[in-house]
Amino acid sequence: MIRFSERLESLPGYPLAEIPTIKRRLLEAGVDVIDLGAGDNDTPPPAAAVETMTAALRNPALSKYGFQQGLLEFRQAASRWIDRRFGIRFDPVSEVLPLIGSKEGLSHLPLAVINNGDVAIVPEPGYQAYLGGALLSGAEPYIAPLRPENQFLLNLDELPAEVLRRAKIVFLNYPNNPTAAVASVEYLARTVAVCRAHGILLAYDNAYCDLTFDGYRAPSIFEIPGARDVALEFFSLSKSYSMTGWRLGFAAGPPELIGALTRVKSYVDTGPFLAVQKAGAAALDQGEALVAPIRQELERRRDAAVEALRQTGFQVDPPRGAMYLWVPLPTGVSSADFAKHALEKNGVVVLPGSAFGPAGEGFFRIALTVGAKRLQVAADRLGSALQQVRRGAVATTA
Ligand SMILES: Cc1ncc(COP(=O)(O)O)c(C=O)c1O
Repeated sequence: MIRFSERLESLPGYPLAEIPTIKRRLLEAGVDVIDLGAGDNDTPPPAAAVETMTAALRNPALSKYGFQQGLLEFRQAASRWIDRRFGIRFDPVSEVLPLIGSKEGLSHLPLAVINNGDVAIVPEPGYQAYLGGALLSGAEPYIAPLRPENQFLLNLDELPAEVLRRAKIVFLNYPNNPTAAVASVEYLARTVAVCRAHGILLAYDNAYCDLTFDGYRAPSIFEIPGARDVALEFFSLSKSYSMTGWRLGFAAGPPELIGALTRVKSYVDTGPFLAVQKAGAAALDQGEALVAPIRQELERRRDAAVEALRQTGFQVDPPRGAMYLWVPLPTGVSSADFAKHALEKNGVVVLPGSAFGPAGEGFFRIALTVGAKRLQVAADRLGSALQQVRRGAVATTA
């Protein structure tokens, strides 16, 4: 018998793991399922990426190993994009690193800084790859709850001194998945100051920086003076360009931190497919024009969903970023029960807040991945699910 490692056993169930099976069963039974689970938009990838990829497939040189160096053209396009987007210069060779999706880089990063007994600060609710990466590296996770009364910000300066002393890495993500919260430059400056004071690596996950609404502009962590001493920033082509399955992202930061992640990765992967990097470069070079319509469509969806949910008994405020609604449930309604009713009785996939860790209880997450009309239908069905769960709760207590 094979005995699995404590690290493996310590991993909680992955939030999206069971949904495809239940969804398939319902679809086979003829149910009209509306899937608002994964953050995977229904819009197609940009034509520029598809056409470049098609041509790239005919170039045998791009079928070779990419290794960590990857395609210089992609590194250069990423560096140009950061400069245009944030006005910050990164050397394409030493300060940018292609990733097989940003999840890959984020989850491998702890291996570069964690020794036995070190702490990784992990926000909860949060993207589960942070916790997974921390646990697999042997870190002791310190779960920092994100609370509505703090606008879902992780205030590092409020953590116990002992945690800050032992911490080697903190993960932060704004615009945030799943809460859709955004962070001000002042907040980021306070955070960078704490990381500098305690020598904590700040893994700043900016996967949703392009998906912002009402004129809000998401900053880069490197807009904060001093961030270059402690931070790596992660970007993804998945959400902005509807290229989730292509697996392409990149990290930017100072050469020594990029070098450390490169070293880890050179032992576990051989870099993204070069043809995908070529297509990614084409997308990034047209980034502003390509993302504008996606952002506008998401804003329309957000408005339609917020309005419809309010009419069906939910209290939700319109978020300024990301592609999610983080919707509070009435006190006493379990998010897992609600999500189960939503899917099995009403054909709508949403994620229960508890799937993002206990601190997510009391909420559920909707991904704005279908058009406004479908979102309105979904909101009606979610209203029914809420009534059913409440009736059930009353019946059980009675
Ligand atoms: C906060 C956050 N970071 C990173 C990712 C991963 O993106 P990628 O597809 O680049 O691995 C996701 C995907 O859902 C996410 O929500």
